[in-house]
Amino acid sequence: MNYKVPFVNARSHYRRLQPEMDAAIAQCLLNGDMICRTQLRDFEMEFAEFVGTKYSVGVNSGYHALEFSLRALDVGCGDEVITPAHTFVATVSAIVNCGATPVLVEVGSDFNIDPDAFDAAITPRTKAVIPVHLNGRMAKMDRIMAIAARHGLRVIEDAAQSAGAAHMGRKAGSIGAAGCWSFYPFKILGGFGDGGAITTDDPQIARSATLLRYNGEDRDTGEYHCHGYTALLDNVQAAVLHVKLRYLPVFTQHRRKIARLYHDHLAGIDEITLPPFDGDGHLDAFQNYVVMTPQRDDLRQHLTNEGIETLISWPKPMWEHRGLGLRSPRLPFTERICREVLSLPMSAETTEEQVDIVAQSVRTFFVRCHKSVFVTQGISA
Ligand SMILES: Cc1ncc(COP(=O)(O)O)c(C=O)c1O
Repeated sequence: MNYKVPFVNARSHYRRLQPEMDAAIAQCLLNGDMICRTQLRDFEMEFAEFVGTKYSVGVNSGYHALEFSLRALDVGCGDEVITPAHTFVATVSAIVNCGATPVLVEVGSDFNIDPDAFDAAITPRTKAVIPVHLNGRMAKMDRIMAIAARHGLRVIEDAAQSAGAAHMGRKAGSIGAAGCWSFYPFKILGGFGDGGAITTDDPQIARSATLLRYNGEDRDTGEYHCHGYTALLDNVQAAVLHVKLRYLPVFTQHRRKIARLYHDHLAGIDEITLPPFDGDGHLDAFQNYVVMTPQRDDLRQHLTNEGIETLISWPKPMWEHRGLGLRSPRLPFTERICREVLSLPMSAETTEEQVDIVAQSVRTFFVRCHKSVFVTQGISA
């Protein structure tokens, strides 16, 4: 379907940066720089600098960033890892694939892990916690770090959706033992395919991830130190990401402007809950602009009819996917989120006019809802 307001616009994103992108890709191809060359190292150095860590290790996905971080911290059989129930499945799959047990806990109204729920879920088997900074807003890292320190737990940040976000002046991916990044194309910092990175101050984690991503091999000596994976961040992807990283502050500023406009235009509609915007030490980067409403499915249909593309992350709780083999933790707020969340169009290319169209359409929907309530109650409106 050709949407009047697309959720994101990959083509105009590319056209905007085309001369620099094409030059960066052509340089890789002309030089024959395919695997583990200067483009990867240069990007890693600048990404670490951007996040504020000593190291950054490029890998082929956010998933592998998570799995390698867990493996680097020796998480495995018999260990429990606490993580929010409302996250992308990869966060949980990484825990399961390491042989550990995921313990899913409730989230708060910011869609992020509830620190009290995290505290209450700790057992003698808990080894680590993975707070997820969802939608471009960081979890309450001050509380999470304090609780983790009290119990001697390691903290791995799932920063896949939070490039440019900060909490208490510290950037996402710089606070825990490791930060895990996804460069999936529609992330705030997205490549032209899959990609990811681990950011860390810990040389052991950086070393372990560097070995794991390259079949366990130390590329300087040729020695295999472990059974690893083929999971490098490709050189061409790194070259693309390096170009885009320069524009990240501009992209973030734009997303925040679009979020502010949504906030202004949608204020005062009783049936809709708007997402948080800064406050309490947060600087939000708005990977997604997510609203909640009990009429979510009807609203979504109405917006689709009007040519507005939206997204639902995620329509049913993870444990209802039977193939994942997860026990139901019975988390009513997470279940409600699945029924009520709707992500409105949001990208570095979303325009003010598009926000006007979306907001007007949302308002029209709720005005019609009111009218139909009046009619069914026999009140003429
Ligand atoms: C919160 C979160 N964690 C992990 C991932 C996994 O990243 P990737 O798709 O690059 O493996 C994603 C990607 O969608 C994500 O949104």
